Amino acid sequence: MSINVKQLAAEKAVEYVQDGMKVGLGTGSTAYWAIRKLGERVSEGLKITAVATSQASEDQARELGIPLVAFGDIDSLDLTIDGADELDSKLQLIKGGGGALLREKIVASNSTRMIVVADESKSVATLGKFPLPVEIVPFAREWTVAELATLGCEPVLRKNGDELYKTDNGNYIADCHFVAIDSASDLALKLQGIPGVVEHGLFIGIADLAIIGKNDGSIEIIE
Ligand code: A5P
Repeated sequence: MSINVKQLAAEKAVEYVQDGMKVGLGTGSTAYWAIRKLGERVSEGLKITAVATSQASEDQARELGIPLVAFGDIDSLDLTIDGADELDSKLQLIKGGGGALLREKIVASNSTRMIVVADESKSVATLGKFPLPVEIVPFAREWTVAELATLGCEPVLRKNGDELYKTDNGNYIADCHFVAIDSASDLALKLQGIPGVVEHGLFIGIADLAIIGKNDGSIEIIE
């Protein structure tokens, strides 16, 4: 039987959750396993409150009986557990493959600690092979996409069937194909300088710990 390495990493991360914590729930197929395990621990008596980073995670948490609060109803969070599309040895991440990068960044930035959970395929020497998701306002989409292209990438508006994909916040996502990102921090500054950009999927200086599930059943921890 093959090992579910996403589950392995996610369940290890849930060991860091303690009674009384306010926990940020990530989004995606790895965060799914963390939420599932948290639900199990809540049913066994763990007392936490949680903030979800997407409608999908909120629905899953509600079904499992994890007490949820709105982001606006709390001052800060103790711990966020979330996946990543890519991570490097400096704990710089690309996120947003699931489209939830804006709420994910808000929640993780307001957490004392962020733990990234991933399988080993996400661990890279240089970010950028995975197209960088950038959330943009519908109002200026053509102009914003053209501005993104001046940064040396090929931006492609994400689709959902025949329609443009809409985020939980009503925006679009441009997936920016860079191949390799030499300096994530320089690129982040440039992206922030484009008015039509709501947020981008580069998480720099946000993650504190990465738990990586490996195909041989072991776990690698980067901090
Ligand atoms: C969601 O918007 C993303 O940031 C996810 O956290 C990321 O895409 C990782 O997802 P998987 O765990 O499904 O690979």
